[in-house]
Amino acid sequence: SILIVDFGSQVTQLIARRVREAGVYSEIAPFNAAEAAFERMKPRGVILSGSPASVPDADSPRAPQAIFDSGVPVLGICYGQQVMMAQLGGAVERGDSGEFGRAFIEIQDSCELFNGLWRPEESHQVWMSHGDKVTELAPGFRVVATSPGAPLAVIADDSRRYYGMQFHPEVVHTPDGGKLIANFARHVCGLSGDWTMAEFRDAKIAEIRKQVGKGRVICGLSGGVDSAVAAVLIHEAIGDQLTCVFVDHGLLRAGEADQVVGLFRGSYNIPLVHVRAEALFMQGLAGVTDPEAKRKFIGKTFIDVFEEEAKKIGGAEFLAQGTLYPDVIESVSFTGGPSVTIKSHHNVGGLPERMNMKLVEPLRELFKDEVRALGKELGLPEAFVGRHPFPGPGLAIRIPGEVSKERCDILRKADSIYLEEIRNAGLYDAIWQAFAVLLPVRTVGVMGDGRTYDSVLALRAVTSTDGMTAEVFPFPGDFLPRVATRIVNEVRGVNRVVYDYTSKPPGTIEWE
Ligand code: XMP
Repeated sequence: SILIVDFGSQVTQLIARRVREAGVYSEIAPFNAAEAAFERMKPRGVILSGSPASVPDADSPRAPQAIFDSGVPVLGICYGQQVMMAQLGGAVERGDSGEFGRAFIEIQDSCELFNGLWRPEESHQVWMSHGDKVTELAPGFRVVATSPGAPLAVIADDSRRYYGMQFHPEVVHTPDGGKLIANFARHVCGLSGDWTMAEFRDAKIAEIRKQVGKGRVICGLSGGVDSAVAAVLIHEAIGDQLTCVFVDHGLLRAGEADQVVGLFRGSYNIPLVHVRAEALFMQGLAGVTDPEAKRKFIGKTFIDVFEEEAKKIGGAEFLAQGTLYPDVIESVSFTGGPSVTIKSHHNVGGLPERMNMKLVEPLRELFKDEVRALGKELGLPEAFVGRHPFPGPGLAIRIPGEVSKERCDILRKADSIYLEEIRNAGLYDAIWQAFAVLLPVRTVGVMGDGRTYDSVLALRAVTSTDGMTAEVFPFPGDFLPRVATRIVNEVRGVNRVVYDYTSKPPGTIEWE
C-alpha cells in the first residue's frame, strides 16, 4: 500500500484517486496523524502532498522523521518536495512571485520515476501552482527536469528512491501525471497494481461491519445515485440492520421519487420509509432567497425529518450518507489551510451538531465516476448509476430567488423536455450534467397576437470528470433552438430560453 501524507492541499484526494487508478491501495493521513498511520500500515511507499502552507514559515507542517528513517520510497509533490528538501538538508525560500498554471518542463536526465515514460531532451506539459521554491538540493539529489519558472522541476535520488516534483502530477492538466504516479507506485515501490473496485467494496464492507457492529443504521436517501449506492453497499454489509428513509422534499426531478422507491422496495428488498415532506419544505422556503440560507434550511430540515423518523423506527445510533469527496472539499476548510467555503453542501453543511447519531459515510473518499463503478459492482442498473448528478438541495438551488411548488412544477416540466431531447439526440452519456434553471426575471414576448410577460429559463450542460472543474458542452447547431421552441410552446410561465456558456471555474456548475 501507499501512505499519502496530507498537508492540506485542495487536491490531495486526487493523488489517492491516481493511486487507485494505478491499481494500488492507498490511505490518506493528515500530517499530524501520519506517523501513527505509517506504523500501522507499513506502506511500501509514501507520497507527500501539496499545501497552502509555506515551508519557510516557522510553524509550517513537517513529515514524520520516521518515514525518512524507514528507507521506503518517497515522492514529494510541490510543498511535499520542498518539505523533503528542508528536512533532508536542502533549502527552500519564499518566492517573490509564484508560478501558476500550465508550464512545460525539459527532461534533463533519466531516472527510475520516468521509466518507460519520459526521456532526456523531451518537453512535457505540467501544471504548476507554487509560490516558494527549493534553492538548494539536499545531499544525494540531482535535477532530472527543469522549467523556466522551476529550475528544480523534478529531482531524484535513485539510490534512496526519493523523488520530488514542483508541479502537480495529480491534476488532469498534467497529461502524463497519472502515469508518473503509477510509475512511482508500481515501478519504484514494486507494488503489483491489481487492486480493483471489487476489493474496495470488500474492504468497505469489512469496515462498515467493524464500525457498526450489531448497531442499527438509518440511511437518508436523497433520490440521487450517491445515497443509493451507499445504501446498497451498507445493506450488503449489514443486511436488515439497515433501514432507509427517503425524505421526499418535493424538489426532485420528474419521476425520480417513483424510480427510487421502485428500485429499493422492488429490486433490492431494502426496508424503506417514504416520507412525503413537500409541504414542510415549501412552507419553510417561502420568502427565502439567499442561496446559503436555502441550502442550510434544506439540509437542516432534511435532518429534522430524518431524526423524527429515526425516533419512530427506534434504536438506531448510526446515520449513513452518500457524501462524496467533492462535497467534502468544497464545504470544509482543512485545519491549517486558508481554503474557503464555496457552498455549504447539503450532505455536510446542514448537519446540526445536536444530532445524536454517528456518521457512516462509505463514499467519502470517492469521486463520482468511481461511485458509478462501485454501483455497477453492486449490481445497480446501468441506467440508474449513469444518471447525471443531482444536488441534495434539489431544484431549490436551480430556482434563484423564492422557491414555490408552482415554480418547481414549471422547472420540472422544462427540465424533463430538455433531458428528453438530450436522450433522443443520443447525447446523455456524453454530458456530465444537463439541467434547466428558472430565473427570477421576466421578459416581454409575443405569442400569437398577444403580449407575454413571463420567466426566463436558462439551460446548462457541462462535461467534467469529477465535478471539480467543468467545461461547457457544445451542442450541435440546431439542438438548442429546437429545445427552446419546445419549452416555450409547452411550458406555461416560460417565454424565453437562454444558454449558460460559463465554465467552472470561474462559474460553479449549479447556479447557487
Ligand atoms: P458546483 O455547483 O459546486 O457543483 O460546481 C459541483 C457538483 O456538486 C453537485 N452539488 C451538490 N451535490 N449536495 C450534493 O450532493 C449539494 O449540496 C450539492 N451542491 C452541488 C452539483 O450538482 C455538481 O455535480
